[in-house]
Amino acid sequence: MQDKIKTLNDKIAEAHLGGGTKRIAKQHSNKKLTARERINYLMDEGSFEEIGMLVTHRTTDFGMENEMYYGDGVITGYGTINGRLVYIFAQDFTVFGGSLSETHAEKICKIMDMAVKMGAPMIGLNDSGGARIQEGVRSLGGYADIFFRNVQASGVIPQISAIMGPCAGGAVYSPAMTDFTMMVEDTSYMFVTGPNVVKTVTNESVTSEELGGASTHSTKSGVAHCTSTNDVVCLEDLKRLLSYLPQNNKEKACNLPYELKDEIREQLASIIPDNPNKPYDMHSVIGGIIDEGSFFEIHKNYAENILVGFARLGGRSIGIVANQPMFLAGCLDVNSSKKAARFTRFCDAFNIPLLVLVDVPGFLPGTDQEWNGIIVHGAKLLYALSEATVPRITVITRKAYGGAYDVMNSKHIGADMNFAWPTAEVAVMGAKGASEIIFKKEINDAEDHEAKLLEKEAEYAELFANPYTAAQRGFVDEVILPQDTRRKLIKAFSMLENKVSVTPNRKHGNIPL
Ligand code: COA
Repeated sequence: MQDKIKTLNDKIAEAHLGGGTKRIAKQHSNKKLTARERINYLMDEGSFEEIGMLVTHRTTDFGMENEMYYGDGVITGYGTINGRLVYIFAQDFTVFGGSLSETHAEKICKIMDMAVKMGAPMIGLNDSGGARIQEGVRSLGGYADIFFRNVQASGVIPQISAIMGPCAGGAVYSPAMTDFTMMVEDTSYMFVTGPNVVKTVTNESVTSEELGGASTHSTKSGVAHCTSTNDVVCLEDLKRLLSYLPQNNKEKACNLPYELKDEIREQLASIIPDNPNKPYDMHSVIGGIIDEGSFFEIHKNYAENILVGFARLGGRSIGIVANQPMFLAGCLDVNSSKKAARFTRFCDAFNIPLLVLVDVPGFLPGTDQEWNGIIVHGAKLLYALSEATVPRITVITRKAYGGAYDVMNSKHIGADMNFAWPTAEVAVMGAKGASEIIFKKEINDAEDHEAKLLEKEAEYAELFANPYTAAQRGFVDEVILPQDTRRKLIKAFSMLENKVSVTPNRKHGNIPL
């Protein structure tokens, strides 16, 4: 008996060593935690239970039968984060560089299947040299088995990927199909083809960091939703992100208990500048509305003309989509439309109510935008908001011009409650542009063109540069005092709690991709 217990204990000890102490030391010297350290940091203390610790690969080519490591380069299992069940895999770079073999993939698939069956989030900590080169197509098949499961699980359970080392070639497509991709600055990178191949094919010289580091993907490509300064911060960010999400698509997002208080926020009354062309930071509007310090921004440094992120409002988990006048005057463009559309669809899939804050002068003009398909990309946001059945509330803080007015969660596309501040201007365009077009003849005929333009501009502004024409029509449900916004929103979201939407029976819609 004691012998047998010793045998098991030896195996467990061997598994815990992964690729051995030397490789663990190298991992640490590269400023990375090991897979086990990451899991232990992320999970509630003592909650992690490993599944498949003693799995090994089955390859005999290239002398591989002589090189076996328990776990085969990935640690899989379940545990809790803040008391809630999650499933996890963490690739172990100390074993064959965390490369993905047939058995490595089988372990991930097993855990993904369990996550879907039990309706709990799936977390992947990626740190891998890609396909196990010694296994060839068997490894590629393993990737595809994971991709297929990513798609089946999409919209059923939240899937979160943290990239904490290399992630190259086919490996990138699993994170890309999960809901959120987080990256660690300086120690992680993602690309389909690495710098050497790039040099051969296009003759471009580029470093791994430039090609696919955290900064590149969080600013240029938008592949990364969040970046963190190191492993520990990344795992903290992951925990925080998870706190806003429900376990699965059948559950409501978790609401913290809350009792309505006075809720008046005077600071909201002095944010909008008198000059309609002067920018202001939409973060200050968000900060004035939500529970203090609760904004978790997604895609913070990408397409900054729109803000998206999770927050709490009276304890309720909500998603926020907001134009940001500080960048491109808050215009909608290709990237901001894609960013907001994907976020909207996530919230809708997982029953997270949406708050849309509007200050939009229109779509960004120009050949760059038109040639890059702003028509189709802008349509993504229009489509995503139109199809969302979660409670949807709009607050127009200032401009709501043209087609962008329709797109930004207007009443017409199914928003449940539309509020406007007294500073709102709901119109086809700004007063100056509108006057130049419709009063062109009068202005040209006038002795003093400039004076006539100003007169006509004032006339147009009087009629349309306000929220009242829209309110008369019922396109705006209520014009509210800015300082009262938080109270109005808490009450409205609570009123919409049990919203039921009947949607047409169809296989799926055809969002303009
Ligand atoms: N298959 C099998 N083993 C792999 C591997 C892979 N795809 N990628 C890395 N390894 C192994 C290495 O042989 C090395 O083994 P060792 O510890 O026994 O020496 C170990 O993982 C660490 O790799 P190393 O190259 O020393 O680490 P690094 O930090 O210097 O570089 C990479 C990391 C990922 C850049 C580099 O390993 C690499 O280019 N790997 C191949 C990537 C690839 O082309 N993958 C296939 C296409 S998807």
